[in-house]
Amino acid sequence: MAVREETLRRYAELVADDPREFRVHGSVYTDPDLFDAELRAIFERTWVYVGHESEVPAPGDYKTVLVGTQPLIVTRHEDGRLYALYNRCRHRGAVVCRQERGHSNFFRCRYHNWVYANNGDLIGMAQSTGYPDDFDRSRYGLTPVPRFENYRGLLFVSLAPEGPSFAEHIAPVRRYIEYWLGRSPAEAVEVSLPPHRYEYPGNWKLQAENGTDGYHGNYVHLSWQRVLALAREATVEESQHYRQSGSARGLAGGHGLLERPGSLNPNSSWTARMMHRYPDYDAAMRRRFTDEELMQISARRNIFVFPNLFLFETHFRVIVPKAVDRTEVALYVYALKDVPEAINQGRFRGHERFFGPAGFGTPDDIEIFTEVQTGVRARGQEWLLLNRGQHRERVEDGEWVGHTTDEAPQRALYRQWRRLMADA
Ligand code: FES
Ligand SMILES: [Fe+2]
Repeated sequence: MAVREETLRRYAELVADDPREFRVHGSVYTDPDLFDAELRAIFERTWVYVGHESEVPAPGDYKTVLVGTQPLIVTRHEDGRLYALYNRCRHRGAVVCRQERGHSNFFRCRYHNWVYANNGDLIGMAQSTGYPDDFDRSRYGLTPVPRFENYRGLLFVSLAPEGPSFAEHIAPVRRYIEYWLGRSPAEAVEVSLPPHRYEYPGNWKLQAENGTDGYHGNYVHLSWQRVLALAREATVEESQHYRQSGSARGLAGGHGLLERPGSLNPNSSWTARMMHRYPDYDAAMRRRFTDEELMQISARRNIFVFPNLFLFETHFRVIVPKAVDRTEVALYVYALKDVPEAINQGRFRGHERFFGPAGFGTPDDIEIFTEVQTGVRARGQEWLLLNRGQHRERVEDGEWVGHTTDEAPQRALYRQWRRLMADA
């Protein structure tokens, strides 16, 4: 169903980019028609993350993924190349691959047994005498998505044949992704499968906002800070002090990040601490990077890549919108390549403690998403405030930079949301 232009313009008005009081209307979380429009205007138009190449390392490996409502297969063919194909049989439309991931020489549709190679070519049809001799199989392969990019192992698709190029899309956040990769002297990561997932009864943008929200931690995660204090790892004051340092940045294109300062002092940054502890890592990092680069690399960041990806210290976090009030989130823990095994083991344990299903952080956040989804149904005053720090933010190289508790990344997200919804 085509969404009418005036409706979309109306959606764009749900973001008030007021220089003193940036606001978002509560219906962006609750209106099912708006959700459908988002799938078309955002998820089916812009660049969307679909996985990491280390999830499909060998020919025959595949994973299936949803981009908005669109089912896709990401697969590696015998030619070693990666393909992103619509998961839809060219005969009568069944998905040809039902598994979440696996390894296979071909995809066989269960309905009438048409068979496709890993690059999508139609290579077999059951009882093929039912088709004329001149039936041209080459025209009935699985359909590749219009645009597919492998950026340093991170795989993105665009379901729109036209629009901003991937290079344009990623440009504002690119240098931060490079620093993030730089914690590995090979500048590469490897996903440890399978991911762990959670679903919450709330809108997808609640997760998109929260991953760079430096304001909530001292309240929502106070119990975690108390656990750290009981374990004598850090006092509550130390945890809270740490949460005041650094900056929050809103970038063009809807991307954003939360950043803690980098340091070459082992007492002040994780990277420096690991370099101090593991001489091999130290040597490899110093061979590869200058001190100036190490200062950047050692900054701790939560990076949001609009619209569905977070790069965290320990994991990729992928947002899958299911309905206006239902969202799935998948956490893909990754190893840093070419670092001592003990470093990755330490990262994994740290991840489990805070982000794991029985961890201290994620359950608290999910609870909050549920509370927002419930609260925004209330009428009376229907606008939400995202104006924290507007009066004190500065613009540096096209980035909106604020105090670490400011809502600069969230404003950047909604500026891009508004642009895409208006242009659809
Ligand atoms: S729908 Fe796939 S073979 Fe018929
Ligand atoms: Fe949180």
